[in-house]
Amino acid sequence: MTGRPGFGMRPAENGSPAPDPAAGEPLAPLPPDARVDLARERSDAQADEVLDALDADLVGLAPVKTRIREIAALLLVDRVRARFGIDSGRPNLHMCFTGSPGTGKTTVAVRLAELLHRLGYVRKGHLVSVTRDDLVGQYVGHTAPKTKEVLKRAMGGVLFIDEAYYLYRAENERDYGQEAIEILLQVMENQRDDLVVVLAGYKDRMDSFFASNPGMSSRIAHHIDFPDYEPDELEAIGRLMMRDEGYTLAPETEPVFRAYLDRRRARPRFANARSVRNAIERARLRHASRLVAESGEVDRAALTTLLPDDFLASRVFS
Ligand SMILES: Nc1ncnc2c1ncn2[C@@H]1O[C@H](COP(=O)(O)OP(=O)(O)OP(=O)(O)O)[C@@H](O)[C@H]1O
Ligand SMILES: [Mg+2]
Repeated sequence: MTGRPGFGMRPAENGSPAPDPAAGEPLAPLPPDARVDLARERSDAQADEVLDALDADLVGLAPVKTRIREIAALLLVDRVRARFGIDSGRPNLHMCFTGSPGTGKTTVAVRLAELLHRLGYVRKGHLVSVTRDDLVGQYVGHTAPKTKEVLKRAMGGVLFIDEAYYLYRAENERDYGQEAIEILLQVMENQRDDLVVVLAGYKDRMDSFFASNPGMSSRIAHHIDFPDYEPDELEAIGRLMMRDEGYTLAPETEPVFRAYLDRRRARPRFANARSVRNAIERARLRHASRLVAESGEVDRAALTTLLPDDFLASRVFS
């Protein structure tokens, strides 16, 4: 997994640990008149840690977080139903994440994979992220083995297909991408028990992909849209990233950072939170160079405080 804070397994509590359905241990069946404490079930599944980390680590994205919580509730209730012998049938959890670059799609998919694992939906909970080139070969006969190899790696987790619409080329009906789509469709239908497929990309292109591929569209149960971040959200994301990396803004840097974000947002190839991360990386470089150039003594404050010049040297101000 990612090794991010908030993702460690909770240490075992006193007494015998709860059965781990994700590890294939069956949950004990219940008599018809049993009563189940759902809060207890939730804490046994350790799903709240992932949900709480999602809330704490990611700014905004309220509709995304709500949908993920709904899915978690469904899987939890299904687990309890199963213990009463009520067969719900496995819900379809193939999804489509639409949004501009840097809106958090990959980050949410990683956490989703972990959550599905903890709730016993998939065996391993890893994420395999691919694009067209990982699935589609250049020559006849190369595509099926490539796609099957990727599917094999992804089994037990989440297969994340970035810019999935490149699999389909409307202008070329003999494109090998079609072969990959056919294989994916089969596995999405028949091996739903151990694999979740997430298609990601821009909303408009995904819509036309689905229009030309109704089979794919009908197998996607959840369409989740990741909106562009508002200026206040970008600022909050920046603060979160700096806090995680042990930096703060000097009071006089605050308006400069905000002005930086406003200008960057208006420029080409703006990529939401990813651009914020890149801006902070560059500010760190300038900060370090500045300290080394000054070559005097440094204290803790100097090592952690970003000054206006660390941002003002950026091209967006020229
Ligand atoms: N809401 C958020 N709060 C805090 N950090 C975020 C948020 N959204 C994204 N990030 C951070 O921004 C970076 C880019 O996010 P991510 O890679 O998930 O975007 P993406 O939508 O997958 O982009 P792309 O479409 O370009 O692949 C990551 O470092 C991630 O941690
Ligand atoms: Mg991504």
